Amino acid sequence: MRETSDLYIVLISIHGLIRGENMELGRDADTGGQTKYVVELARALAQEPEVGRVDLLTRLIEDEDVSDDYARREEPLADNASIIRIPFGPPKYLRKELLWPHLSSFVDGALKRFSAVERTPDLLHAHYADAGLVGADLASLLSTPLVFTGHSLGQDKRRRLIDSGMKPERIESRFAIGRRIEAEERALSNAALVVASTRQEATEQYSRYDNYRKTRTAVIPPGVDLTRFRPPRRFDPRAPIERRITRFLEKPERPWVLAIARPDERKNFATLLDAYGGSSDLQERANLVLIAGNRDDIAQMEEGPRGVLRDMLLRIDRYNLYGKVAYPKQHEPDEAPVIYRLAAKTGGVFINPAWTEPFGLTLLEAAASGLPLAATDDGGPRDILGQCKNGILIDPFDAPKMAEILLEMLTDRNRWRRWSRSGLREVDRHYTWRGHARHYLREVRKILGRPQRRKNPVPKTRLPTVDRILVTDIDNTLLGDAEGLAALIQKLREAGGRAAFAVATGRRLQSAIDVLHENDAPRPDFWITSVGSEIHYSPDFHADEEWLRNIHWRWDAGLIRRTLAGLPGLELQDEIDQRPHKVSFFIDPAKAPALRDIEKMLRKAGVRGKTIFSHGQYLDLLPVRASKGLAVRFVAHRWGVPMDRVLVAGDSGNDEEMLSGNSLGVVVANYSPELEKLRTADDVFFSSKQHAWGILEGVEKYDFFGEIRSQSKQNDP
Ligand code: GLC
Ligand code: MG
Repeated sequence: MRETSDLYIVLISIHGLIRGENMELGRDADTGGQTKYVVELARALAQEPEVGRVDLLTRLIEDEDVSDDYARREEPLADNASIIRIPFGPPKYLRKELLWPHLSSFVDGALKRFSAVERTPDLLHAHYADAGLVGADLASLLSTPLVFTGHSLGQDKRRRLIDSGMKPERIESRFAIGRRIEAEERALSNAALVVASTRQEATEQYSRYDNYRKTRTAVIPPGVDLTRFRPPRRFDPRAPIERRITRFLEKPERPWVLAIARPDERKNFATLLDAYGGSSDLQERANLVLIAGNRDDIAQMEEGPRGVLRDMLLRIDRYNLYGKVAYPKQHEPDEAPVIYRLAAKTGGVFINPAWTEPFGLTLLEAAASGLPLAATDDGGPRDILGQCKNGILIDPFDAPKMAEILLEMLTDRNRWRRWSRSGLREVDRHYTWRGHARHYLREVRKILGRPQRRKNPVPKTRLPTVDRILVTDIDNTLLGDAEGLAALIQKLREAGGRAAFAVATGRRLQSAIDVLHENDAPRPDFWITSVGSEIHYSPDFHADEEWLRNIHWRWDAGLIRRTLAGLPGLELQDEIDQRPHKVSFFIDPAKAPALRDIEKMLRKAGVRGKTIFSHGQYLDLLPVRASKGLAVRFVAHRWGVPMDRVLVAGDSGNDEEMLSGNSLGVVVANYSPELEKLRTADDVFFSSKQHAWGILEGVEKYDFFGEIRSQSKQNDP
């Protein structure tokens, strides 16, 4: 088992405005619960003795419209925890839907950071789909286990938007949901552990995903700051709010049934009033205290809350509940803890009768104040009552039953005391950040138990001595124009020893060796072959075993072949082109199913595979962790060359991944249509020249053998 006393944990949360103090929660849709969650998680984990260091990676933003706090590269959160901001894409603040095209650049920035601190994380934890995509790549490149928390999920959001009547095309253009769901699938297929906040989230939301497997999920509720909430003490000083409540009540000493919620129809004060109004027994036994936000003049309020408050007053009048129901007009936020305590002092109960309740913070506040709970039978209350054993689940639409349960809860005083004590104890155990961090580390230990150490011999190579790498595709890029090739060879020779030269190709190794030989091309320092599924180093053609071990994860070539056998428009290539980590077909796109559907079929069959389409006629299936792009990043990172010093040239679909991100991308003029979409990427250069002439033009453009100019607009120094 691995040493875990000095864990280096890296959290990734990309969008929104994240800082350690004065968080701007609610400023926009991207700066809310998740922002607070990740900062608090980072701090809580850093306090645990077995954790050495926690870094929270997010986006660096330079924008006059937001505070320059977000432009600081590093911000300490504790002695051993920091926010690290990685610049990528345009410097200005962008909403999360606009970040997708730039994410591979975030991967490169993160790798650069790990090289700079000379430390590889023991654990990566990605938050939300965007970070999930980045985390999946980093996990494969670094051989680090990945934890994923979706926070909210694309499938769910799409369903809600469709229910609300929005058109699918509009949903896609505004929210990029398809992309988000694909990213979530990628993250789930790479994750060793999923952390969900409630069981319902796990069983009803993650379970809609093909790559979700129940066994790898831990339900760990977020920590809640409950320091302001505590049970009543005998000599608590009197607070003004007490009088503002008791003046409504004839017998204020009778137990209070307390409800606290915004005046929102779905919070369902209506059924609660029907329950109380319909039961003279309950009215005899208890008061009803409704804390429904603050109001000045109901008539001036917005339609929603106005309707709810009006309805509340009408019901009180209809059931003639004067002297029994309190509904104070105003209370300060810091009076909430006092209100719970006053209710607990009377031996009352807290009720949350909302139509639905995914989490239920007020339940925890009430439990921390010593109040037993009655709450809607839904995700949040089910978990909370399951842990705290301090009350009863109710049907929010059954008023008579609600009254019956409340009455029963107030009658058995011994049980009331047991509930109250149990709630106090369990909230402290399960719902504090300290409790969260300990539970989290218990789960993490299970996935770290697997060997992660680098055992394979280091290949012999001159790469440690180089400071830049030129990587090129072979067919139709390096080769195709003999004079261009000769000119490029000349240029490489002049550049001398500090530049490495490499190829990345769909061909297998022997075929690549042969074709370079036939064309008098120079010998590469390393060979990325079979579409990125293999890496070999010159001079001995030593295979990179670590790469193989890395990509082997969840790979099953046989199952892929069986699953796709007989599909229309698909025909296996020659046996010689089938490799241990590559299954290749000829594809006729007019007859074959769409790539998305092929991927879906594979997922349904339980295989993980990535599809790569090139030249309008080839379809390669690779392990999810392999591609020419990831292989280039792997080699560069392994030998300490940052991606912004790697020039990459290509012409077709299987080159796409290596061309995007921080690399210096060059697309030659004779490129195939699959690469058209890179035209809008701000850091890929489209040469006006063909084949090797195009590479040369790219070399000039970036001054690659000189100072190296990045044409990208990102703000990395
Ligand atoms: C090469 C390989 C073939 C692959 C194609 C596209 O032609 O020989 O197997 O499908 O590249 O990557
Ligand atoms: Mg090619």
